[in-house]
Amino acid sequence: MVIEKARIESIQKLSNYYYLIEVFSPLIAKEIKPGQFCNIKVTDTNYPLLRRPFSICDVDANKLIFVFDVHGEGTKILSSKKKGDELDILGPLGNGFTIEGKYDLAILIGGGIGTAPFPYLTKKISSDVDIISFIGGRTKEHLIKYQMKNIHLATDDGSEGFHGTIIDLFKMELKNFINKKIRIFACGPTPMLKALQQISLEQNLDCQLSVECAMACGFGICQGCPIEKSNGDGYYLVCKDGPIFDADKILF
Ligand SMILES: Cc1cc2nc3c(=O)[nH]c(=O)nc-3n(C[C@H](O)[C@H](O)[C@H](O)COP(=O)(O)OP(=O)(O)OC[C@H]3O[C@@H](n4cnc5c(N)ncnc54)[C@H](O)[C@@H]3O)c2cc1C
Ligand code: FES
Repeated sequence: MVIEKARIESIQKLSNYYYLIEVFSPLIAKEIKPGQFCNIKVTDTNYPLLRRPFSICDVDANKLIFVFDVHGEGTKILSSKKKGDELDILGPLGNGFTIEGKYDLAILIGGGIGTAPFPYLTKKISSDVDIISFIGGRTKEHLIKYQMKNIHLATDDGSEGFHGTIIDLFKMELKNFINKKIRIFACGPTPMLKALQQISLEQNLDCQLSVECAMACGFGICQGCPIEKSNGDGYYLVCKDGPIFDADKILF
């Protein structure tokens, strides 16, 4: 884990809701794995005080790529940054997805900004493994297709793809994959993860969930990001023990 002053190489709008930002950050780029995240300080001052966590979206040689939506004050400031500005970035943080092991189909399920960690994951999954991406969003403007493979889409308002949630679509399609050795990787809002957790427990599916919660330190000091263990033995910290958990290990 290092702190790096990273120069912004580009910042662009992906849609009405999402921005893509590329920063020159060779130390973190060398180390970071899919599913890990960085904590970004969005100003040089003490306001806002806390860093904001962002998943690694992609790595291109010495560059880190993040995708973000404007949620509150911190991300609003981030969206106003320009090429050449510097960001203070702490990373890599968290555990990352487990991509090792035997499976012949990776199913990536992303809801809204939860699709952010999948471009780098797609790049890092072995070329022997087929990939199917299920991408959902509230409207077509909330779908992130950037660098994704073999895409199935769903929108809550029916403006693109299947009319319904991405989990509804996944449930309908699951029968087509059940004879394969699948591994599911998911990231998105808690209700989406909860629904997927239930399906994967019922059907005994190999499933990893990337959990989102409000964070302060991002590396296990403040104890501010607990999630209950499913075995009744206390709590994990999402920032340090996660953000990725096997679906059977946690209680939402
Ligand atoms: C592991 C992880 C990875 C993430 N990856 C991305 C990503 O790739 N792209 C993206 O757009 N967003 C991502 N988020 C959510 C992002 O961190 C929040 O949207 C952001 O912190 C909001 O900051 P703000 O100042 O704009 O909002 P405010 O609401 O003003 O933030 C106030 C405080 O609450 C915390 N907070 C508020 N909402 C969230 C939230 N949903 N998750 C975590 N902390 C929150 C902030 O860190 C801050 O401390 C991720 C969150 C986590 C935990
Ligand atoms: S954010 Fe501080 S312990 Fe997790």
